[in-house]
Amino acid sequence: MTATDHAERYDEVPYPPLVHSLSHPRTVGAMATLFGLAPTLPDRARVLDLGCASGSNIISLAAELPGARFHGVDISASAIARGRAFAAELGLDNVTLAVADLYDDLDLGEFDYVLCHGVFSWVTPALQERLLTLAARHLAPNGVAYFSYNTFPGWHLVNLVRQLFLRRTDPTLPPLERVQQAREVLAAHVTTALDGSLLKALLLHEQQVIASVSDEYIYHEHFVAEHHPVYFEEFAARAYAAGLTYVSDARPDFVLPETLPPKIAAALAPVSGTLAVQQQLDHHLNTRFRWSLLCRNGLTPRLTIEPQALAALHVSLPRDRDLAVYADRAEITNGDGRRITVNDRVVADILAHLRERAPASVPIVDLVELSVPGGRELAGSLVGLFFSGVTVLTTAPIVAAPQLPERPRVPPINRLQAARGEAATSRVFLSQRLDALGSRLIPLLDGTRDIAGLAATLGEPADVVEGHLRVYLDAALILP
Ligand SMILES: C[S@@+](CC[C@H](N)C(=O)[O-])C[C@H]1O[C@@H](n2cnc3c(N)ncnc32)[C@H](O)[C@@H]1O
Repeated sequence: MTATDHAERYDEVPYPPLVHSLSHPRTVGAMATLFGLAPTLPDRARVLDLGCASGSNIISLAAELPGARFHGVDISASAIARGRAFAAELGLDNVTLAVADLYDDLDLGEFDYVLCHGVFSWVTPALQERLLTLAARHLAPNGVAYFSYNTFPGWHLVNLVRQLFLRRTDPTLPPLERVQQAREVLAAHVTTALDGSLLKALLLHEQQVIASVSDEYIYHEHFVAEHHPVYFEEFAARAYAAGLTYVSDARPDFVLPETLPPKIAAALAPVSGTLAVQQQLDHHLNTRFRWSLLCRNGLTPRLTIEPQALAALHVSLPRDRDLAVYADRAEITNGDGRRITVNDRVVADILAHLRERAPASVPIVDLVELSVPGGRELAGSLVGLFFSGVTVLTTAPIVAAPQLPERPRVPPINRLQAARGEAATSRVFLSQRLDALGSRLIPLLDGTRDIAGLAATLGEPADVVEGHLRVYLDAALILP
């Protein structure tokens, strides 16, 4: 498949305009800081996005961070044209988008963050090398690169479904009709698979995954001819050969063995070396996707986390965390719903404090005195909760309403996204899908109307409007 074929596929079925929460510089930067690096703060960062499609990720970042600069490149001229039109409509002057083939010998300057999301696994091995070389070439001395990619061993199983789709659907159908046929083929195979069989369990699991993603996403995930998942160790070795050293993954709950379920932690305890630990972790968890962070060769990410590294960070609690505080302990869920017990009363109080402000962040130094011994222990507990997937650490604050304001307000980008029928980027950098009423409601949230006013303008009952607003409050769309 040539680069031009590739562009045509993306022109035919545009990639959905979404954001990727783990790629936010405040999130990438927090992880890099914990591992001893000194990344640039988001508000003055220079960010390069390789294979940016219509630039939805960096346009949302540019709208939030007017002091930072963003540049995206993609081979799809139509995607770049859509992105430029969107950025122009928002009046952004800190984001540029260019049509370019990443195979070419590009020299785009120096960047504090290089992002490459959802590209690496879907291009030829030769272009994979090129992406790593380009990232190394463009990274500032303290820069951090973010690569997401499909991994083995997880993809050995998912490949069974991909092959089912490729072989049992009609290649002459228009792309999205073929995806519809793929959904039907999967449903039929779930029905016929023998009860209790390995196949049934796998197909049921994949059916659940596929139910939660768009047709366009399925098309690019399963029907693109080039598809090359890699083992983590292979990725890290190829990155190193290109000039990049593995730092950590951006998703915190798969990083430290000691925060994984105890039997996996015990199995990993004798393993030494970051790369070996990470690879074995993938075998235990059957990992299918990674969000890996890399720095320039020559920098040495720390192996242990110093409490002092937290001094410049902010901590927050996503609103979906379920917290119960008892006299002697607290229990809190992580992002996967796993219940974690906190035995320290002070940590429990901090969680309760964060819950009240959620999803907004609080500077860690406002909660913990890091220079005293007790403070360092407390910092250790907060780091543990971060790597257990409970709290979120960032290098810049998360600004969002903890309660519904009288006259709710969202930023202009959300009003425009809603008016275009697209998902809205939340303050915690997630894409929030909007239903028909949401697409009419969000454009009205400029802070001039209360619930009665919104209901009257929309011609909808006030309780229905309030219900929607509460969903968007929980989704961190509303400004304080
Ligand atoms: C799955 S999309 C990911 C888009 C975006 N990074 C995101 O995650 O939302 C992959 C993108 O890589 C781009 N791409 C593939 N091969 C390319 C090449 N040789 N040069 C530039 N862009 C390329 C495609 O056009 C497409 O927009």
